[in-house]
Amino acid sequence: MSAGSLSSLSIVGEYGPITLRQQRQVGVIVIDNPPVNASSQAVRSGLVSALKAFEENASLSSALMIGANETFIAGSDIREFGAALPEPELPDVIAAVESCEKPVVAAFQGVALGGGFELALGCDARIASVSARVGLPEVTLGMIPGAGGTQRLPRLTGIARAIEIICSGRRIDAREALELGIVDALSDGVFLEQAVSYAAGLTQKRRLIDLPVPDGSTEQVDLAADKAMKSGKQRPPVRAAIDAIRSSTTLPVAEALRAERQVFTRLRTGSEARALRHQFFAERAAGKVAALKGIPYPEMEAVAVIGAGTMGVGIAACFAEAGFKVQLIDQDSEAAKAGLDKLRALYARPLASGKLSQQLVDQCIGRVEAQSGYSKLAEADVIVEAVFEDMTVKEAVFSELGRLSKPSALLASNTSYLDIDQIAAASGCADRVVGMHFFSPAQRMKLLEIVRGTHSRDEALAQSMALAKRLGKISVLAGNAFGFIGNRIFAAWRKQCEFMLEEGALPQDIDAAMRHFGFAMGPFEVADMSGLDIAWRMRKQQAAARDPAARYVEIPDILCEQGRLGRKTGAGYYRYENDGKPKVDPEVTALIETQSRLKGIARRNFSAEDLEKRVLITIVNEAALVLEEGIANKPEDIDVVLVNGYGFPRWQGGPIFWASQQDPDSLIEAQNELEKATGHGFRRGDLNVVLSSQTV
Ligand code: CAA
Repeated sequence: MSAGSLSSLSIVGEYGPITLRQQRQVGVIVIDNPPVNASSQAVRSGLVSALKAFEENASLSSALMIGANETFIAGSDIREFGAALPEPELPDVIAAVESCEKPVVAAFQGVALGGGFELALGCDARIASVSARVGLPEVTLGMIPGAGGTQRLPRLTGIARAIEIICSGRRIDAREALELGIVDALSDGVFLEQAVSYAAGLTQKRRLIDLPVPDGSTEQVDLAADKAMKSGKQRPPVRAAIDAIRSSTTLPVAEALRAERQVFTRLRTGSEARALRHQFFAERAAGKVAALKGIPYPEMEAVAVIGAGTMGVGIAACFAEAGFKVQLIDQDSEAAKAGLDKLRALYARPLASGKLSQQLVDQCIGRVEAQSGYSKLAEADVIVEAVFEDMTVKEAVFSELGRLSKPSALLASNTSYLDIDQIAAASGCADRVVGMHFFSPAQRMKLLEIVRGTHSRDEALAQSMALAKRLGKISVLAGNAFGFIGNRIFAAWRKQCEFMLEEGALPQDIDAAMRHFGFAMGPFEVADMSGLDIAWRMRKQQAAARDPAARYVEIPDILCEQGRLGRKTGAGYYRYENDGKPKVDPEVTALIETQSRLKGIARRNFSAEDLEKRVLITIVNEAALVLEEGIANKPEDIDVVLVNGYGFPRWQGGPIFWASQQDPDSLIEAQNELEKATGHGFRRGDLNVVLSSQTV
């Protein structure tokens, strides 16, 4: 009997997406709600009916709850979370399982997440296939588990481990779940057969809710809570989850469950959870472009990455981790070999911390071959160029790629702002050229902007989007214009921050305001970290085309001329000493004040709120222009880019979502002020384009 033979079991009753089937004396309750068996109202109500039918059927002594299509339940249906939840709610289903006099076993192959995992914890035992994963990701959606997860999990793992699991929202694989006692048995054979046998052998109820919480050391619990608060950026759901988990030892269980549900409901309907749900769906929608659906493309197995610098090596690591064979190509063998050393160095930390196993790292490194020159280029199905960000250099590379690659190969440039059409023209095969803008560090950042050149054919774009999925990236399709979506908006916002320096703010004021809003770093800290020379080179390249009447701030150029290129030179907007922390530098303050004087600008005080408002309206205004110009396909794509590539706080939902939550009049007023401050050359975006964004 195979998992696929669920349908061969005889049917006892059908309840919408739930079917009760029978195998010997075991009632098999099958959940079938594609694509991921989300627990919708129909699922919950079907489960209650199936459980009742099971209980009343004297020929059945135990039940097995199992998902069709190799998924148990990927959680509650998040689309229901914007309004009052229709009955029965999940705790009602779990109550039906717990009050049933006969044992019920949860059996999962794919994922059991959120409410799905909570339902499994409400069962009397859990059996998983070796490929199964469980987790409680509610905190990452701005809530806490609301169906007993904070009470039942600690009864298996202890408080400290439950804090770590719930506050990180991480997925736990089946083997770890077995070690932690979260699952009772693993199946490495024919899943359905083993699961049914397991359920048949279970004769007693084993309700987790009746178990005591294992004793644990207070220090360990405090340590886990501190760690969770730190990595969870002190967000309210993290704090609430810790409190709820701790209450499993201080409150009677019924009271703790009621309190958990109340907190869950309050957070679920709050602004943070709405913003996070918006991001959840925006990220999934970004990778799906209707016009590219179903377009066939060539197979992809072998990859070549041109350029063994930091970016090239990071990109090679992405491909190797996803199982591709990679040629890492540089001009001479020394540079290519140095690339391999960089690749090894990249894995040193995750290896030391135990995040990655030696076996996995060896496998990845083993997939990468250092190459000098293009002798094996024709073997590659996909070629990604990651050489120096200079048009002449890129044109030279693409002219070779066009000549030496096989005619079906996809050619991609990792440029972050250069013209894809000009690069593609040099190849002589522009139809198979796209932009693939990876973010640094490429092996860790999830975002990938895929840039459509004028001549990029749909097949190449469909192939690129599919490739991104295989790499585990979130892909966003962007039009070919300076900086694409992200860097275009980032350039506009950085420019406004420079204007504010001249008008009276200091780098530390702006950085602090942006951090307060939720960015991981402020724009000047970011500039120092990535190096001021990158933007300097770009400004020099654009100097001839710049409108001489437009406002221009010389401060960053002067810093570069003084050799203050950021962290790498020990000084930029800030000064850096041995501890690596940015220190306010009076020399920079003096330079900024001098520049204001030279321009005849009377410096004024900015409150943190003024600074935040100016940055946000700049982002929103530029986002509107990006949409009007068709560089982004839909408003939500901009949220995906800014959150995943530029540190915009996820819990604010991205700039478009943020704007949709503001009073439109206040946005228009802020836009008017922005226009006044910018002066000549200001372009006003149509805020209606932004405000039409969908929210969940
Ligand atoms: N509710 C509604 N729709 C969901 C969903 C959910 N919980 N999870 C996934 N989907 C939808 C996606 O939006 C997508 O829909 P479209 O095809 O229309 O775009 C479809 O299912 C497939 O999802 P993915 O593209 O993400 O597919 P994948 O194979 O890459 O990943 C997955 C599958 C691992 C299940 C992933 O979707 C996932 O992690 N889902 C979220 C799980 C989650 O957070 N669950 C907790 C919910 S909160 C909760 O459960 C609280 C409670 O009850 C108390």
